[in-house]
Amino acid sequence: MPETNVSFKLCDILLPREQIRKRVAELAGMINSEYRNERLVLVGVLKGAVIFTADLARMIEDSIDVRMDFMAVSSYGNSSSSSGAVKIIKDMDTPALNQNIILVEDIMDTGLTLSYLKDMLMARNPKSLKTCVLLEKPERKKVECAIEYRGFEIPDEFVVGYGLDYAGRWRNLSDIWRVVEG
Ligand code: IMP
Repeated sequence: MPETNVSFKLCDILLPREQIRKRVAELAGMINSEYRNERLVLVGVLKGAVIFTADLARMIEDSIDVRMDFMAVSSYGNSSSSSGAVKIIKDMDTPALNQNIILVEDIMDTGLTLSYLKDMLMARNPKSLKTCVLLEKPERKKVECAIEYRGFEIPDEFVVGYGLDYAGRWRNLSDIWRVVEG
């Protein structure tokens, strides 16, 4: 995460909207073939995964009985180094017991947030638990955490747009942009 005492500006587009749309459709296609005629709870992690979760949900076919739920988390400590300890600001509304759950995240950086949330939900004995992550930065990974549905691997650069923010800004952009100091 860039330091907050320097300012950042948009640099260039890393992933254009058409490429994102095509990949989200592919991920939805995989989910459609694996959960046909089943019940599924999509759990988006606020706020970064809101746009991704909404787009993905609309591409899931009608034979799947979908519930949408959300969790909000914040990491303890300073924002530039994730400690792995995650504070739950808002939990799921749906009980996880015996449900097919897909945890939907915007980005996996160190993997600490996702692995914490997975462990927490697994302890609630869901029928199944998978993760769907739009972006992964493999170079930053600190913990192993399986991702069943992955959008894109990206380099170790800070990105915004399509739900991702820098200090609350740029979530609304349709493309995913690199930011630079300036
Ligand atoms: P992790 O626990 O280190 O995997 O951190 C994941 C969280 O860090 C994400 O949910 C984002 O909130 C934030 N994050 C990491 N990299 C970026 C980025 O490039 N852009 C925006 N947010 C990021």
